[in-house]
Amino acid sequence: MSVRPCLFVVLAAGKGTRMKSSLPKVLHKIAGQSMLAHVLTTASRIEGGKIAVVVGPGMDAVGTEAVRVVPGARMFEQSAQLGTADAVLAAKPALDEQGADSQAGGDVVVLFADTPLVRGEVIERLRAALDSGANIAVLGFRPKDPTGYGRLLIDDRGGLTGIREEQDATDAERDIGLCNSGVMAFRVPRLSELLSRIGSANAKGEYYLTDAIEIARQQGLKATVVECDESDVLGVNTREQLAVAEGIWQARARSAFMRDGVTMVAPETVWLNFDTRIASDVSIEPNVIFAAGVTVEEGVQILGFCHIEGATIGKGARIGPFARFRPGARIGANVHIGNFVEVKNVTLGEGAKANHLSYLGDGSVGAGANIGAGTIFCNYDGYNKEKTEIGEGAFIGSNTSLVAPLKIGAGAYIGSGSVITKDVSPGALAIERSAQEERPGWAEKFRAVMSRRKAAQKR
Ligand code: UD1
Ligand code: MG
Repeated sequence: MSVRPCLFVVLAAGKGTRMKSSLPKVLHKIAGQSMLAHVLTTASRIEGGKIAVVVGPGMDAVGTEAVRVVPGARMFEQSAQLGTADAVLAAKPALDEQGADSQAGGDVVVLFADTPLVRGEVIERLRAALDSGANIAVLGFRPKDPTGYGRLLIDDRGGLTGIREEQDATDAERDIGLCNSGVMAFRVPRLSELLSRIGSANAKGEYYLTDAIEIARQQGLKATVVECDESDVLGVNTREQLAVAEGIWQARARSAFMRDGVTMVAPETVWLNFDTRIASDVSIEPNVIFAAGVTVEEGVQILGFCHIEGATIGKGARIGPFARFRPGARIGANVHIGNFVEVKNVTLGEGAKANHLSYLGDGSVGAGANIGAGTIFCNYDGYNKEKTEIGEGAFIGSNTSLVAPLKIGAGAYIGSGSVITKDVSPGALAIERSAQEERPGWAEKFRAVMSRRKAAQKR
């Protein structure tokens, strides 16, 4: 690991035209988190690093997101989107301070907020090339489809002589498989001076950061390439690439969980969020989706087709198939939640059960309570949300409506089919149902009358 101070300049000012979106490109999400946040999180974990973010005018949401993720980040505005070199220069005050930081100048690493999969260890590998004497190190890769990427021009001795953007490339240059990821590390005494020499005489009329290589070489500085895998530096310019990046992120996260002792029967069907936490010996059946804010404790079994968001699932619980947890679902140890049960903002105590077809919204269920099939917490009257509190060991019969606010005492029984509107004392039976009537022999008489009528109609 490099010990020099490092300034990360994260470029996030591009409009992202190819996304065809009203949302700035870098706020599009991977695993529930903006691409910008992915990059900032990675950079902020590298020791000795400072972060500068370059945003476009009127992109308040981008600045807000950057400060949310890294409160200490410095913001710079690029007044017009004139290209990546111009974007880096928008952070000139930070570049110049960095140059003054140490005699040799600290490192400057440029990261693109639309290249969200880059990992800390890959950045460190790039900086190691500066340790071995290069002034500029470019992270290169060989994508399956190089369309749209800048090509890296290499001399006989393997030195990097330039980068050619696709639109400016000759046919021969387009055949080069080695591409620019956009991630570049600089150890150049006066970087802002070098960058200000870059012109815009190219197909797009933009100031390309990539031109820094040729200019640096003319000044006798040394540039080199460090290669990495495509999965580390996929650039996202379109929605299709966004989906590919999501797939790569998911595959990595699943592998990490499996390495840490989580069983996944069909990992490719399990969708994780950037903040998902799953302990060891959890087993997950196919087609389970983890949205934001989920923690799963040891030994939990999650059966197929569950959708889980904002939930804590306690040790040894058994969930699904087809369960849905929404924010505030706090599932105690050894709880059983079965098919078509929705839980929102409810705490279930240890060993409670709700195995079939229920809505539990706002409230609490005591330890060991049993919630029968078709129980509904009627929590909302169109204006307010109210709580249903069920005591320990209570038994709620099937097809019960519990009209909140409501308290069911510990150990109480609720008769099936009841609509309960008043609190129930501990240990009591509450039943709300009209008395059953029975008419002996009625069915036989009914059938006789009906079949005579039918026969008369046919005649
Ligand atoms: C860029 C590189 C290309 C590389 C590719 C990798 C240049 C000239 N080209 O092309 O060699 O193969 O990335 O993905 O650098 N941005 C600004 N201000 C601007 C323009 C861009 O902040 O004026 C930001 C964007 O928000 C984005 C990043 O810079 O995060 C890259 O811009 P983009 O337009 O996507 O460049 P590419 O065409 O992908
Ligand atoms: Mg791009």
